[in-house]
Amino acid sequence: MNIDGCPTRTIRLAADGETVEVIDQTRLPHEVVVRPLASLADAAEAIRTMVVRGAPLIGVTAAYGLALAMREDASEAGLAHAVETLAATRPTAVNLRWALDRMAAALGRPEVNDRTAEAYRLAAAMADEDVETCRAIGVHGAALLREAHARTGREVNVLTHCNAGWLATVDWGTALAPIYVAHDEGIPLHVWVDETRPRNQGAALTAFELRQHSIRHTIVADNAGGHLMQHGRVDLCIVGSDRTTATGDVANKIGTYLKALAAKDNGVPFYAALPSSTIDWTLADGVAEIPIEERPAREVTHMTGRAETGGIVTVEIASPGSPAANPAFDVTPARLVTGIITERGIASASTAGLAALFPREAGRV
Ligand code: MRU
Repeated sequence: MNIDGCPTRTIRLAADGETVEVIDQTRLPHEVVVRPLASLADAAEAIRTMVVRGAPLIGVTAAYGLALAMREDASEAGLAHAVETLAATRPTAVNLRWALDRMAAALGRPEVNDRTAEAYRLAAAMADEDVETCRAIGVHGAALLREAHARTGREVNVLTHCNAGWLATVDWGTALAPIYVAHDEGIPLHVWVDETRPRNQGAALTAFELRQHSIRHTIVADNAGGHLMQHGRVDLCIVGSDRTTATGDVANKIGTYLKALAAKDNGVPFYAALPSSTIDWTLADGVAEIPIEERPAREVTHMTGRAETGGIVTVEIASPGSPAANPAFDVTPARLVTGIITERGIASASTAGLAALFPREAGRV
């Protein structure tokens, strides 16, 4: 996608061929800052502090993190330490574990004699694969928007939560990929952007992306979705996912479940768009089994933004001293999900639906 007309990916290699460069998402939408990652510690810190975020991008950053780690210590012990360090950064997005397992298995092969070079090669391949996967999600999901437009004959209103756009992946995004493809085809669209408290990924990142791509959108407070659906102002919801069970339960940013409940009550189709690397084939019950990240209370009690006088400021918005809790994700049970948009097509949110598209992966468990 583009920032100010320049084609951009969220992660790339610097000109020295070794340093990894990422867009610092804690500074968006106010400033576009490219941050260099030069070590395992840098990569782990970038994931932990959400300089990079979004399940697929976390996975690819971890892959590059292993490459950086191999420069420091390419021994068996060095590889194990790097995998452990990166795996501990964020617990919910399974793409992190998926990428690390894939990298570790490949780097552990006896015929690999230069682990560092191989790690860079694999990480770059994973980044390219992510782009292709997300583009395919966009092509499959765009059919839903085309159908909605054909049925209503008017602009299609899509509601999305958090940021599952290109900033959350290497390029294209998951939930926003169908929107980009459909928009480029000329289908008239308008996106309701949930602000997504507490970190405001919707208001800050999704709105930034859509504006850069000239797609009509409106930011709404998180609690507005139900009201909009009751009044027929949402044709469909599309969200991303951080971990999806083999049975079709979908973990995504906190608040997603409430949107799915409102969608069910109002007969609004509710889709999750995700690459197969987000499916945890070992899990059957998302509510019971998916680990939910608990983030600092300060993200709830404080907000960061640009002051009207300029400059980025953080202000306290809560009653000083009151305790706050910050579960970062929730699980939407499969029964509330109309379909799962993947790189291979749209599946029903069920064991049979996902297995029909991914028989090899589903059969491994
Ligand atoms: O905490 P974040 O910003 O990493 O959470 C991101 C989300 O919840 C996204 O919807 C999800 O990772 C899908 S990204 C394509």
